[in-house]
Amino acid sequence: MDARIAVLASGTGTNLQALLDDPHVGHSIVLVVSDKPGAAALERARMRGVKPVVLQPGHYASREGFDQALTALLEEEAIEFVLLAGYMRIVGIATVRAFRDRILNVHPSLLPAFPGAHPVRDVLTWGVRVTGATVHLVDEEVDHGPIVLQEPVLVLPEDDERSLHLRIQEVEHRLFPQAARLLAEGRLKVEGRLVHILEGLD
Ligand code: GAR
Repeated sequence: MDARIAVLASGTGTNLQALLDDPHVGHSIVLVVSDKPGAAALERARMRGVKPVVLQPGHYASREGFDQALTALLEEEAIEFVLLAGYMRIVGIATVRAFRDRILNVHPSLLPAFPGAHPVRDVLTWGVRVTGATVHLVDEEVDHGPIVLQEPVLVLPEDDERSLHLRIQEVEHRLFPQAARLLAEGRLKVEGRLVHILEGLD
């Protein structure tokens, strides 16, 4: 598989690490972009010789200006696929349109349940017994695009936000590289909300 992949990350970057470590996907990651100058994800990129770039929203006059700068950067770097690995900003319409069906997001709940910024906390507040991880294509609405892969995680009585999130992330670290590989190999066929996986899962 020979593709040019960018990963966008705001935080710790454990999902980025799982992607970098994946034998099929890792070598195709050529750019890591963060909106946070101190994000540990940037150091993970440096350690692997992957170009780290900081794009701070506060440096742009408008949301659209930031969005255009991000899209331009991705195009300058000849990026084909974009992976949102704990990227805590809404991707703007210009980027979504430029990379239609080529952006994946990982989210720590079973979408469409519990979208938003605090899904693990919300799950515990609601008292649901089963949650999980979702990898989906990004469209113009938040946490909304067609679902590629999902896997459940049981909520245990003794769970707090941290313990539950850690178990969900273990699943994410498997699911996200798998979905990224399917996308980069051209094995996802999108029909409305449905994503067909060509040749099945490996
Ligand atoms: C992950 O659990 C990811 O699903 C979540 O942030 C975490 C980042 O962890 N993303 C969202 O909540 C996006 N709505 P990481 O930085 O260690 O990969």
